Amino acid sequence: MGVRVAVIYYSATGSVHALAQAVAQGAESRGAEVRLRRVKELAPDTAIDANPAWRAHVDATKDRVAEATMEDLEWATAYAFGSPTRFGNSAAQLKQFIDQTGVQWQAGVFHAKPATSFTSSQNRHGGQESTILSMNNVFYHWGCVIVPPGYTDPLLFAAGGNPYGTSWPSGGPGQLPNQAALDAANYQGRHLTDIAGRLAG
Ligand SMILES: Cc1cc2nc3c(=O)[nH]c(=O)nc-3n(C[C@H](O)[C@H](O)[C@H](O)COP(=O)(O)O)c2cc1C
Repeated sequence: MGVRVAVIYYSATGSVHALAQAVAQGAESRGAEVRLRRVKELAPDTAIDANPAWRAHVDATKDRVAEATMEDLEWATAYAFGSPTRFGNSAAQLKQFIDQTGVQWQAGVFHAKPATSFTSSQNRHGGQESTILSMNNVFYHWGCVIVPPGYTDPLLFAAGGNPYGTSWPSGGPGQLPNQAALDAANYQGRHLTDIAGRLAG
């Protein structure tokens, strides 16, 4: 059976979306079947409209990227989760999606599946590791096999050398990842797929 990767992310202004696409492309390049899925936007229009980059991204992706469902989690044999930093944590939108997985958790849907996570924050030291670790906390509870990039490829150093997961310091809304960050995200998708393949025997 081939590897099936669900790349599930939240992005307000496009940085994590771009990383998610690169993770998906990396996984596909290693032969995985991939579903790229955004979680539902929960913020009110008043908040979105107050930030032009947020409004532009919502409008650009709402019909182009399918919304994540529980069935995507059941379908996948590996997970890559992405979220922007929100005060050192993952975004409520992703958390809301995760908080609907009680039935799947109880049924053991997540057991021993490899999982990895990635993020973007405004500042290099603005909470990237803590955001990734907060997503990984869920993977512990799910009984997943956490797959960090570590320092397993030299290209990771060019992207800031974060062994926890790809992390793009955007500098502000709508500042999309540079090529080094996209390369790291693509590698993370490849690495996840390779590990998933090995686990599947
Ligand atoms: C409510 C809120 C909280 C944020 N908290 C942080 C933070 O703790 N550290 C930081 O560096 N950036 C923080 N940011 C900035 C975003 O994480 C950053 O702009 C990120 O690149 C956005 O990713 P996106 O384009 O995928 O939405 C915050 C932004 C918002 C709106």
